[in-house]
Amino acid sequence: MEKRDSLKLMRFSIPAFLLFVLSQLSAQSNQLTNEYIRPSQSLNGTWNYIVDPYETGYYNYRYQPYDEVGKKADAAFFNNAKPSGKSDLIEYNFDESDTIQVPGDWNTQKEKLFYYEGTIWYKKSFDYQRKSATNRVFLHFGAVNYQADVYLNGTKLGKHLGGFTPFSFEVSEVLKKTGNYLVVKVDNKRHKEGVPTLNTDWWNYGGITRDVKLVEVPADFISEHVLQMDTEKSGFLSGYIQLNGSQNANQEVKVNIPELKIQTKWVTDAQGRTNISVPIKKINFWSPENPYLYPVLITTNQDTLRDTIGFRTIKTQGTKLLLNNKEVFLRGICIHEENALRGGRAYSGDDAKMLLGWAKELGCNYVRLAHYPHNEHMVRLADEMGIMVWEEIPVYWTIQWENAETYQNAVTQLKDVIRRDKNRASVIIWSMANETPNSSPRFEFLSNLAKTAKNLDNTRLISAALEQGSVEGNPSVRTISDPFADVVDVLSFNQYIGWYDGLPDKCSQITWEITQNKPVLISEFGADARFGFHADSLTRFSEEYQAYVYTETLKMFSKIPQLSGFSPWILVDFRSPRRVLPNIQDGWNRKGLISSGGERKQAFYILQEYYRQKTIVK
Ligand code: GCU
Repeated sequence: MEKRDSLKLMRFSIPAFLLFVLSQLSAQSNQLTNEYIRPSQSLNGTWNYIVDPYETGYYNYRYQPYDEVGKKADAAFFNNAKPSGKSDLIEYNFDESDTIQVPGDWNTQKEKLFYYEGTIWYKKSFDYQRKSATNRVFLHFGAVNYQADVYLNGTKLGKHLGGFTPFSFEVSEVLKKTGNYLVVKVDNKRHKEGVPTLNTDWWNYGGITRDVKLVEVPADFISEHVLQMDTEKSGFLSGYIQLNGSQNANQEVKVNIPELKIQTKWVTDAQGRTNISVPIKKINFWSPENPYLYPVLITTNQDTLRDTIGFRTIKTQGTKLLLNNKEVFLRGICIHEENALRGGRAYSGDDAKMLLGWAKELGCNYVRLAHYPHNEHMVRLADEMGIMVWEEIPVYWTIQWENAETYQNAVTQLKDVIRRDKNRASVIIWSMANETPNSSPRFEFLSNLAKTAKNLDNTRLISAALEQGSVEGNPSVRTISDPFADVVDVLSFNQYIGWYDGLPDKCSQITWEITQNKPVLISEFGADARFGFHADSLTRFSEEYQAYVYTETLKMFSKIPQLSGFSPWILVDFRSPRRVLPNIQDGWNRKGLISSGGERKQAFYILQEYYRQKTIVK
């Protein structure tokens, strides 16, 4: 049977529950969570790097990976070999090579790497003083785009696919006190079977784009905790605690929330896990108006974990979106993970403060983090600032729906972002995809992702940015006929009437026929404008044209009674190789309400006033 058919057969013959079990198995993998709230040794800073477009440091001249040919080849860059005598032949030297900053993409740090797509080797030397001989040590990466092969002291720790989710390796047995050398092969080439696939409307920033750190934990440590308002038992906080280690069974776990006068004790089962459920009388629900976070203390006889968690409920009731059982309207904006002022991928707490500060200035209570999981600073700051969040995995446009490896890649990225952010009150929606073409393999792919998300976390809502279309034969009546609209909890779709679809005045000729009894969240609309380009409101790329699209769109939205919110595309201009119009785009998508120089365009103030009006209690 031809491979393709077997793949197709394999997908349909694996019942969804087995897909779920498979995904759960890797969910118990030795991944470290909570590194954000644990003491750690940062490996951020100056690293050496070697550009390696032919992957000379990975393959011998017969194109065999040095990983697999067994013998310890000095020619393999991950061995960080040094000549032992004047006659030795070593054709690379990290310590004599150029340096680069981590975290950070290479494109905007080195002009010669601006368009580079390929392999770059990173090397960092460090010493490490273990606090206790019985402790374990994990090496943690916030993200590396797109594939990382990681070696410590010449030992391959493993590889990771996916440019926007965290991963870690236990290094307890490989780490030395002095003279450690960490070598990472980073390859940002795009692949048709990738997630995302070859074609995206954002810059393919390569590199170790987020924090790198060493985290030391006790032999039996608290590896995961979940604590949420119970969706079935009202008035209860529920969740679980998972310990990791050889003695994790039958262990006492204390969960204390002092401000709720909760002091509870639990005992783990044979798998080192205990479910928890605690009745609460009175609680200060988290909300945008009151983003209250409770200190939570989890302790065992070996480990202590301190988190701050907001408690709230989010659900739908017909076409209404309910936050803490009260109807809520999402005043949103879309954001790419980019600091346009500095250039390149955003990665720091300060970057998060800038981006979410701009969203707050706009009057937002909600952001759509497009089109991939952003760094953890963003969701933790959103918790503190009271900004609700839509998180998304990069199942974007024309993914390879019938490729089992592509599916596994997508489900791993989904599991990883849920594992990282499941305690963040700000996160209310998990999005499965963006603008994906309708087909039965795509429906199967997305439906399995949605099932996995629901099984991992039934406290949040599922959505996806779908596409709208005309009712049969009547282009001025729009509807959502996508079968995946029956799977999601919140009906979201992108629409660009006035930009990709007619001129701005077309908005007034459109009516919407939305038949799904679900809240509607318009996930994108917008128009390009180069800041400072002024003309009449029908001149493309002028600020006036963009403003005209906004005023006409906002009027059109008043004709959608189920509308529970929207997130215009987009907060800030962002780099895209697809946008090449000279003197207007020059490699930037100009749909930002804020320019790449940080200036506010006319449309910024139109939306800001609309949101201000929305907050006035009638
Ligand atoms: C699409 C897509 C975005 C893209 C935008 C645009 O809807 O979701 O990623 O940047 O439209 O064309 O500007």
